[in-house]
Amino acid sequence: MRISVIGAGAVGGQVAFSLAVRGYEVRLLDIAEGLAEGKALDIMESAPLYGFTGSVRGSTDMGLLAGSDITVVTAGKARQPGMSREDLLKINAKIARSVAGEIKKRASGTIIIAVTNPLDIMTKLIFDETGFDSEKVMGMAGVLDTSRYKYFISQVTGSPYGKIDAMILGPHGDRMIVCDDVRVSGRPLSELVDPQALGALRERAKNGGKEVVELLKTSSAFIAPAASVTRMVDAISGDTGEVMPCSVRTLGKYGLPDVFIGLPARLGRRGVEEVIEKELTEDEIKGLAAAAEQILSSLQGL
Ligand code: NAI
Ligand code: 2OP
Repeated sequence: MRISVIGAGAVGGQVAFSLAVRGYEVRLLDIAEGLAEGKALDIMESAPLYGFTGSVRGSTDMGLLAGSDITVVTAGKARQPGMSREDLLKINAKIARSVAGEIKKRASGTIIIAVTNPLDIMTKLIFDETGFDSEKVMGMAGVLDTSRYKYFISQVTGSPYGKIDAMILGPHGDRMIVCDDVRVSGRPLSELVDPQALGALRERAKNGGKEVVELLKTSSAFIAPAASVTRMVDAISGDTGEVMPCSVRTLGKYGLPDVFIGLPARLGRRGVEEVIEKELTEDEIKGLAAAAEQILSSLQGL
């Protein structure tokens, strides 16, 4: 399976590495002269050590998008300390539109996983610009936000990650919805930690990206984001039908307007095979609706 990664920065480079290790044929593309080629070479020079059979070819030539089964879009500016995801809106909208134009022209059959922030807005712009079916366009964020939350829960409860059932929905931003229904080995999390600790866990999950960028200072997170993309690629290429939170077209689910936002989605060979209507609390549904309205108004401002 051929995967293209547009943007060979921190996230794109790590995505290419992670996918190569899992055996995929990767095309890594960037407008910066030498960057994608350099990262591809560096990754491939590790192949004899890791023993992986995947490959990465780096280039500035967008013609290499041809024949991609999946295209991951990481092109854009990353968030710097003190900068909100929304600050990136205008700069990245221009980049996302231009990249979407290239994809439409050269790889009309590809499935797209958007990563560029502000994620839900960029995913919608890419969807509009390509004119692809909504099942073929999705954004990565909920998988990452949920993984962060599971890690924090595990730190507090001592539970193995695989025993934690949690999900973060909504937008990739301050209004993300940390769903109340969290189970640890089948037991509600609220039975295992006191309300104050529970509140702290939820807050930390919401600020997961900010916590990393404030520590790194010159980059935002890229390792867990790349792992999240890899999980999505595996689900699509393996046609697993796994349900994960992804930024998807609402399709009228939860009574939401027509935007892209984090909802549980069944991933498979066609891309988003189904958007799932999970049971949510009244507050969670209200939170989703308010976030969707904010996304709509940001889109109207562009
Ligand atoms: P970075 O700055 O390290 O890399 C971005 C790359 O995009 C640069 O190498 C740049 O040359 C390239 N680029 C810019 N315009 C391009 C174009 N038209 N065509 C091809 N390449 C182009 O940034 P990083 O850390 O890799 O982050 C990338 C994006 O992903 C940012 O918007 C960041 O906020 C977002 N992000 C989103 C996450 C999520 O959960 N959805 C998680 C982590 C990052
Ligand atoms: C993150 O959550 C910056 O959106 C990016 O790490």
